[in-house]
Amino acid sequence: MRFWRKKTAYEPAAEQLSPPEHIAIIMDGNGRWAKKRGLPRTAGHKAGAKTLEHITRAAGRMGVRYLTVYAFSTENWKRPAEEVSELMKLLGTYLDDYRNLIGEDDIRIRVIGSREGLSVDILEKIDRVEQATADRKSLTLNIALNYGGREEITAAVRRIATEVAGGRLECAQIDQTMVGAHLYTADIPDPDLVIRPSGEQRLSNFLLWQCAYSEFWYSDVNWPDFTEQDLRRAIDDYHKRNRRFGGV
Ligand code: IPE
Ligand code: IPE
Ligand code: MG
Repeated sequence: MRFWRKKTAYEPAAEQLSPPEHIAIIMDGNGRWAKKRGLPRTAGHKAGAKTLEHITRAAGRMGVRYLTVYAFSTENWKRPAEEVSELMKLLGTYLDDYRNLIGEDDIRIRVIGSREGLSVDILEKIDRVEQATADRKSLTLNIALNYGGREEITAAVRRIATEVAGGRLECAQIDQTMVGAHLYTADIPDPDLVIRPSGEQRLSNFLLWQCAYSEFWYSDVNWPDFTEQDLRRAIDDYHKRNRRFGGV
């Protein structure tokens, strides 16, 4: 991981190291942030969306190539209808005003997750923002929306099984590359670093297949309070890790 790279805004104390290629973040703790301040949970989600703006652009400046953020899980539909509807409204606004999120920065936005259950309105907004930013290259921001790792793997199995049933594929041809190619993240490298704020230390159905060898970094800070400094700390710690991938 010790690749020398041209000088960027990211300057770790010890030496110039390249940042992880792919960082994934479970943006958690919005509700607790709001509760502490006597505000409704939706105020926490709004504050969390602001944090996403700062962190996305900071990651872009640092030279991160892929940033994947967990915005809404397949299990989050269990929340009270009012909170779900507020969250969808907020996500819709962000997809509409995506320029507030990425400005003129060279950032591509993609949405990963199931399209089932999302309104036509949200689906149209997703298509629009993906098309509008398709040619941007430096950083890809993947927004995991209506995403669940088990749902993703199940959908992949279903599609592969359909090909076998149709006689287009032999069972013996199914390998890890093929399974990976049927996931929402088909052309995205696995996350190097997964960050979860808010004190929770679990995956909550995020990128189950892709995190096989990711490094994990936790913080007690709630997502709305998460700063560029926290991101730098996570990256500095990441550089101290020894990734063995099962080797010695
Ligand atoms: C994360 O914050 C945002 C979503 C899951 C949509 P939470 O809403 O889970 O906040 P806490 O965990 O209740 O504090
Ligand atoms: C994970 O957070 C999902 C998102 C951040 C979008 P949750 O708040 O839903 O996770 P649990 O329920 O605490 O595991
Ligand atoms: Mg939570």
